[in-house]
Amino acid sequence: MKKHLIIGNPIEHSLSPKIHNYWFKKNQINGIYEKKKPNLDEIKELIQKIKDEKIYGMNVTVPYKQEVIKYLDNLSPLAKKTNSVNTILKKDGKTYGDNTDVTGFELSIYDLKINLENRTAIIFGAGGVVPSIVVALQNLGLREVNITNRTSDKVKVIKSNFPKVNEIKWGDLGNYDIYVNATSVGLKKEDDLNLDITNLEKGKLFYDVIYNPPMTNFLEKAKNCGHQILNGEKMFLYQAQKAFELWHKISPKIDNNLINYLKND
Ligand code: ATR
Repeated sequence: MKKHLIIGNPIEHSLSPKIHNYWFKKNQINGIYEKKKPNLDEIKELIQKIKDEKIYGMNVTVPYKQEVIKYLDNLSPLAKKTNSVNTILKKDGKTYGDNTDVTGFELSIYDLKINLENRTAIIFGAGGVVPSIVVALQNLGLREVNITNRTSDKVKVIKSNFPKVNEIKWGDLGNYDIYVNATSVGLKKEDDLNLDITNLEKGKLFYDVIYNPPMTNFLEKAKNCGHQILNGEKMFLYQAQKAFELWHKISPKIDNNLINYLKND
């Protein structure tokens, strides 16, 4: 039985066990996937279990995506570039950290089939997922990626790794093609970034990395103003698909059966 684990804090809400256990069944893999909320001092030990083959694969979520790096033998180029690991496996006898969030974000936008040439984006927030979004948007060929965050110092850290990114003053809405909410504001239904978007030109894309709740105030306001919207569900599905592929060399299916199954909690 191949054991898999997702670690994070909080972790109760995670749908990763549900999706991977579903795929194990569909693909006849003798696997099990569980969630765990470890203390900081337990992480090293958990990663050792991957080396000892007591754990086959691990996902990592907030706030441990950077924390795990110091315990890993090797990193993928994307994990290095983003300084962020969400998937761990054993490869050539060593622990190996990879990042599938970049692919998750990229594929979710790709699905929209919008022309991204010469487009611009602004990301709200500067937390752990933001470097992955920056890389994805740069890979997609956007002309300009901007970041705005309540705490400016955190943008400066990101800028030191991604010098082409511009910092925008918190509160400035500007005029961009894509608006991405990567803050934690919206995780509670009543949360609101309090952006006044009523004067923005029409035809933007508003993207919220949050998928639960499926409709945040950020998206609701954008929808009411006639903009295209997308929540984080596709990103979540695609990052999971890519992680599964790294572990099992099979790309599992994302179809309506799976999406409905995840909704029926
Ligand atoms: P981490 O930093 O651990 O990765 P995160 O949950 O990924 O945490 O990031 C939280 C993001 O949401 C941060 O950008 C945070 O802004 P600060 O850096 O200023 O804390 C942002 N955020 C959280 N609550 C917010 C609020 N009420 N208004 C604006 N931004 C908020």
